[in-house]
Amino acid sequence: MVYDSSVTQAPESVCVRMDAFPCEPNVLADLILSPREREHWRSMRGVEKRRREWLLGRYVAKEAVRPLLEKNLDLHLSPEEIEIMPDPYGRPLVKYCGSGPDPLVCAGPPGRASSLSIAHSHGTAVALAVLDPETRVGIDLESLSHRREDFEAIAFSPDERSLLAALPGNLHQEWALRMWCAKEAVGKALGRGLSAGLLAFHITRVETAKGLIEVEPRDGALEPCPQLRGKSLNVYTARESNFVFAATIYQQGAVRMRPSRQEILNYLLQKMGELTQDWDYPDPVRPGSRLFTELGFESLDAVVLCTAIQEHYQTPMPFAELLAEIGQQQRDLSIDELTDFVNTHLGGPPGADATRRVQ
Ligand SMILES: CC(C)(COP(=O)(O)OP(=O)(O)OC[C@H]1O[C@@H](n2cnc3c(N)ncnc32)[C@H](O)[C@@H]1OP(=O)(O)O)[C@@H](O)C(=O)NCCC(=O)NCCS
Repeated sequence: MVYDSSVTQAPESVCVRMDAFPCEPNVLADLILSPREREHWRSMRGVEKRRREWLLGRYVAKEAVRPLLEKNLDLHLSPEEIEIMPDPYGRPLVKYCGSGPDPLVCAGPPGRASSLSIAHSHGTAVALAVLDPETRVGIDLESLSHRREDFEAIAFSPDERSLLAALPGNLHQEWALRMWCAKEAVGKALGRGLSAGLLAFHITRVETAKGLIEVEPRDGALEPCPQLRGKSLNVYTARESNFVFAATIYQQGAVRMRPSRQEILNYLLQKMGELTQDWDYPDPVRPGSRLFTELGFESLDAVVLCTAIQEHYQTPMPFAELLAEIGQQQRDLSIDELTDFVNTHLGGPPGADATRRVQ
C-alpha cells in the first residue's frame, strides 16, 4: 500500500488489507469484537454483505491499531480490548474497553489512542491507522471491475474533467476511479465523508508517475477544518490487481501546511489594500511599495499591521526587532521584504531581501 501525507515527516502508520475472512464470520466476531461491538454485530439488519464488510473492516482496523500500540506504547491489547465505535458522523474512533484500568488513559489523551480509517468493497477491507489521535487519516478503495455509467459527470467539475482528459486514454478509467477514491479519502480524513458534496473536494493536480492526487477542500468540506482553506491535501493512490486505493494522512499544523511565499504576499497585499483604502493614495499597492515613504504608514499603523499578521498566522514573530532595526538604519520596508520576513518566520527559506535586511 502506498500512502502519504501532507507532511514532510509522515508519521508512522500501519495499513492492513484482507481479501478474505480468516475463519467463519461468527467465530471471528466472537474472537475480536468487544461486548458492545458484538451486540452491534448481532443486531445488524439488512444485507449480509454489509454485515460481513463491517466485520472484516473491524478486523483489519484492530490489526492495524494493535502493532502501533505495541511498538510505540508497549501496550499489548487483545483485539476485543480495542473498541471501534463511530462518532456522530460515522468516523471510526478507537477506544480501550478492557476490564482493567484503561491503559490508554495513562498513555495519552483519556480513552483515546490512534486515528483510524476503514474502507471495504467487494469482499476486501483495508484500514489505515496512525498513533496520534489528532492526526487525520483517510483511506478508500474501489473495484475496477464494477461498471459505473456516467459517474464522471456527477463526480467531477469541468476543471477536474479537463485534468482527466489530459491523461493518456488508456489511463482514463483507472484515474477517474483514483480521483473518486481520493475525494472519499479526504472526506474520511476530515471526518464528514462526502456529505458536503463531491464538488466540495476539488482535485487541483494529478501526478500519474507518483500516483499523487492533490485535493483541495472547499465550501462545506472546510467546516471541520477551516484552516485548510486554500490548501490541498496530498492523496497517494495505487492500483493493485482490480482494486484502486487512495490514502491520505493530514497532520494538523504540520510544516507542509504552511503558506507559500506567494500566498503570504497575496495576503499582505490584500491586508495593505484594506488598511490604506481610505487613505489618499493614488496608486495600487504593489509588492515593491514601501510602507512609510510611499504608503504613508506611521509607527502605529505598522504595529496594527504586525499584530494582524501574527493573529492571521497564529505565530509570534519578532516584529519589534524588525521595526527597531529599520528605525536605527533609517530605511524603509517594502511589502516584498515584509513577505520575506513573514515567510522566514513561518519556516520557509529566507529570500534574498530578507538576507540583506538582517545584515
Ligand atoms: C463516508 C463515506 C465516504 C463512505 O464511503 P462508502 O463508499 O460508502 O464506504 P467505504 O467502504 O469506502 O467506507 C466505509 C467506512 O467509512 C467510515 N466512515 C463513515 N463515515 C465516516 C466519516 N464521517 N468520517 C470518516 N470515516 C467515515 C466507516 O468506518 C465506514 O465503515 P464502517 O461503517 O464499516 O465502520 C460515504 O458513505 C459518505 O460520504 N457518507 C456521508 C454522507 C453521505 O451519505 N453522502 C452521500 C453523498 S455522495
